[in-house]
Amino acid sequence: MNLLGCTALYRPSWSTSTLAPRGVGAGWVNPAPAGVSNRLPPHGGNLSQEAQRLGMQPSQLLDASASLVPFRPPRALRRALASAIQGQALRDYPDRSQADLRSAIASWHGLDPEQVLGGNGAAELFTWAARDATAAGLSVLPQPGFADYSRALACWGGAIKQQPLPLEWGDGWPQPFPLAALSEASDVIWITNPHNPTGQLWSRASLEPLLAQYELVICDEAFLPLVPGGEDQSLLPLVADHPNLVVIRSLTKLFAIAGLRLGYAVAAPDRLQRWHGWRDPWPVNGLAIAAGVAVMNDPVGLQRWQGRVQQWVQQEGTWFRAQLDAIPGVKPYPSAANYLLIQGEQSLLELREQLAQQGVLLRDCRSFQCLGECWLRIGLQDRRGNQRILRALQRAQANRAWSRATSF
Ligand SMILES: Cc1ncc(COP(=O)(O)O)c(C=O)c1O
Repeated sequence: MNLLGCTALYRPSWSTSTLAPRGVGAGWVNPAPAGVSNRLPPHGGNLSQEAQRLGMQPSQLLDASASLVPFRPPRALRRALASAIQGQALRDYPDRSQADLRSAIASWHGLDPEQVLGGNGAAELFTWAARDATAAGLSVLPQPGFADYSRALACWGGAIKQQPLPLEWGDGWPQPFPLAALSEASDVIWITNPHNPTGQLWSRASLEPLLAQYELVICDEAFLPLVPGGEDQSLLPLVADHPNLVVIRSLTKLFAIAGLRLGYAVAAPDRLQRWHGWRDPWPVNGLAIAAGVAVMNDPVGLQRWQGRVQQWVQQEGTWFRAQLDAIPGVKPYPSAANYLLIQGEQSLLELREQLAQQGVLLRDCRSFQCLGECWLRIGLQDRRGNQRILRALQRAQANRAWSRATSF
């Protein structure tokens, strides 16, 4: 099924409606990529801004606009943070070499520590990947895709070619990457596996040939550890033999530590040394290092945690999609990841606002190219959270015409 037909992109209703953020900090809404109005929220997870707009406390909101594991971070991580606070981590400068963190991550993946570089979340590392990408030439960005790559490329004036992704959800995962045989020449390709916002999981076999076609391949595996069977599709085992490959991972999703911030890049040592020389001296703070070392140095605990997370994605994802399927007016799409897209035949902005008024935040998809106001992305929650989303949808449906006017 090809879904690129939805053309309702950036319609002006936003600028005239009550949806526009207001109050303190409205000018500081996340900067949007070029061509996207700054009044749109290009990223989910704007909890405090949304709470202020809605006149609620952040704790009253269920934030399904971001896609984080809904469990508390593992006990080992919380303990490590507490003991780091009791100890010297607040007072001392963090270890600039990140020696313990890099060796813990390397040993989990069976890599050399020189191939690993910690970052202030994956997002910070995209900035340095983008600097290399800009030097290499033209970057292909599959769309709809994660907007932060454009932000990172814009830092360096990087040239971008937006490449529409044929949105097709086949039967089961993984799927072959559909842009493997692009006819026009370009230098760099940015891959997201699983893809955001669509939740498609690409097969390693279909990604591998890209390494011979592009000067630089940047693969964002932020959500891969959450996906059942996802690790089998990782490009990490290919890094040693491919100096033109960069794999970027995030621990903020897996351990629900988006406020702490931790990610890492895996690539050729000389590339990472270059990045290390460019960035500010202490991009990863001492608490994040302590937390990362604790979880990555505990392979048994990590395996157990990953198993728990993947089981949740498998079970809850299947259940939630089936429930959404029964709601008239929206069509949920399959996803290998902990988020999924829903589509309406008409704009879903009003629905989104009705849910927000009930304290449930869904992701506005207008900042994703090739999507628009007919689409929303929902981050998977635990059963109670998912039931709250479903109840809010049912209430909104009982109120409004948007559901009656559609044939889904
Ligand atoms: C595909 C993808 N990669 C990376 C990130 C950013 O990860 P981090 O929080 O570690 O910076 C996000 C955040 O939403 C994302 O969706």
